[in-house]
Amino acid sequence: MDGVYRYQRHIYDLTRKYYLLGRDRLIADLCPPPGGSVLEIGCGTGRNLIAVGKTWPHARLYGIDISEAMLETARASVAKAGMNARVLLAQGDACAFDAERLFGRQRFDRVFISYALSMIPDWQRAVAQAARCVAPGGRLEIVDFGPQDRLPLWWKRLLLRWLAAFHVTPRSDLGSIVAQIAREVGGRSDARVLYRGYAVRAAIRCEAG
Ligand SMILES: C[S@@+](CC[C@H](N)C(=O)[O-])C[C@H]1O[C@@H](n2cnc3c(N)ncnc32)[C@H](O)[C@@H]1O
Repeated sequence: MDGVYRYQRHIYDLTRKYYLLGRDRLIADLCPPPGGSVLEIGCGTGRNLIAVGKTWPHARLYGIDISEAMLETARASVAKAGMNARVLLAQGDACAFDAERLFGRQRFDRVFISYALSMIPDWQRAVAQAARCVAPGGRLEIVDFGPQDRLPLWWKRLLLRWLAAFHVTPRSDLGSIVAQIAREVGGRSDARVLYRGYAVRAAIRCEAG
């Protein structure tokens, strides 16, 4: 991933603003409990964590990413936003990380993954790992590219080709995998497409302990 983002990270937030749709709606919906914890998996430049920090000023924030280059940008952005005391960042693989070792805690009130599953080959494992990090009564929220099925075929073909150049593949079976993992962790799932299939939102709600 460092190879992908070494140079792109400098223009990442500006360019992605126009096509990583649904991120701000997810952030507005997070609604963590007062003093609650929020983990972003695949946090990239830290753009989302900073927005979470502004929207939910009492939340404690955690982020992991596999790319040290992205984390370097995230650390600088978090410092610039004056959020050093509230945000902990660590390098880790979404498919297998030890939250206790990285952050000193195993569970988080809210866990979210924004436009990262479409870049992770073993994304089902990443969803399972994320679900295990959700505290009782908490939620995992996901937003990513959708099936593009209600958009013109020429658009779908063009977009998929363009995304492939960035190692991105929309996960057409995201909803069914999320439902399966929700059953495994004893939670309830929900999935819906946004913007005529451009994006997809999925969630797992874990039972209160
Ligand atoms: C398209 S960016 C999205 C960044 C951010 N979540 C956002 O919405 O702007 C995907 C991010 O996922 C990270 N990533 C890719 N594979 C990963 C993995 N296996 N574990 C953790 N992060 C990963 C990349 O380094 C990159 O920062």
